[in-house]
Amino acid sequence: MRFIPVIPFLLLTVLSLCEARANTRSRTDPLPVARPVPGNSLGEELRGLAPSFSDLIGKFVPGAEEIFSMSINVLAGTPARVVSYYVNEVCGIASHWKIPKPNNTPREADLHWELYSENSMVSAPLRDPLPFIESNDFNPDLNITILVTGWESLVSDKLGEDVIDSMRKAYRQRATENFIVFDAGRFVNSLYSWATLDVLWIGEVLGNSLIRLSKKVNNPRIHLIGHSVGSTIVGVAGRRYHGSTGEYISRITGLDPAMPCLDPSISLKKGDAAFVDVIHTNSGVLGKREPIGDADFYPNGPVALPPGCLDVVCAHFRAVSYYVESVQPGSEDNFPAVRCGSIDDYNTRKCSGKRIPMGYSTPAYARGTYYLETNSKSPYGQNSV
Ligand SMILES: *[C@@H]1O[C@H](CO)[C@@H](O)[C@H](O)[C@H]1NC(C)=O
Repeated sequence: MRFIPVIPFLLLTVLSLCEARANTRSRTDPLPVARPVPGNSLGEELRGLAPSFSDLIGKFVPGAEEIFSMSINVLAGTPARVVSYYVNEVCGIASHWKIPKPNNTPREADLHWELYSENSMVSAPLRDPLPFIESNDFNPDLNITILVTGWESLVSDKLGEDVIDSMRKAYRQRATENFIVFDAGRFVNSLYSWATLDVLWIGEVLGNSLIRLSKKVNNPRIHLIGHSVGSTIVGVAGRRYHGSTGEYISRITGLDPAMPCLDPSISLKKGDAAFVDVIHTNSGVLGKREPIGDADFYPNGPVALPPGCLDVVCAHFRAVSYYVESVQPGSEDNFPAVRCGSIDDYNTRKCSGKRIPMGYSTPAYARGTYYLETNSKSPYGQNSV
């Protein structure tokens, strides 16, 4: 059992050799609406070259712990296409072997969310928003923004904190919203749990709680923001809310919604809120490539690695960095994007419509796919001053 993590490294060596020739396409590809994710065809080719991952691993049934450590080791510095192939294999194995759940499977009582204000933080059970409403830190006259994180802790605790912290600081500069965080990353800490965790169940707990919350406060505008697998959770919550109240959550923003290991039928999509906007930064690897919202933004096109990123983890988190920048007062127009049918049309300047801002102040009338370019480091918006 203990030597299983060696296998992915052997396989990776073979895969890395094949990576270079597969790498050239992504930047100029037009955006396909329905096409197999890139990486699958590479996987098919590679199956002929190396004994398949499943064959190798078939001799030992890996436990949740092994899959967890493999996930961490393989993700951090590896090229995009290799990770894409690898995670699909891991997900296949996890669902195929019906590996028993680890002991830390969350129970409803374990799920908590936090309301952040100027100097304090109030924690409440996810199923019960009353402690927020009763606290002095909740302002019933303000709108509500709720961030649901993804799998930050898979890579490092530090990254998870950065996502929550940078969002919280940006929203605090505005001071126009009640800002709440549900750190789902604590419960979704491996690719294994992506495949097996009941994301549907967590989303429904959240959805039911939002119904309770909205009954207690006067017509708030609720904006849900989900990163990675958090996008799936907020999509489920929005659907639940609508199914039960007939009303829509005002807005859902998906930040590089997660692709692998998740049942596509439950993922975030338009119709889950009155307005669904999506920022794609790791297209076709850890994030979805196809448009799923009312408005889908493709900074630099449907690329696996945005400028300034050398690995998929950086790419998957870049959507958060762009969004955070756009929340900062004075930076809401940093990312002007133009509606366009494909990245080729964008590059050859065939699309000349009015530009709209990506991020915090994206207008709810936006529809379709939008393109823009970004800088490789902060400030990322090319319209920043
Ligand atoms: C709440 O959101 C609505 C819709 O975006 C907006 O018009 C309103 O000004 C917001 N309220 C506050 C207090 O910011």
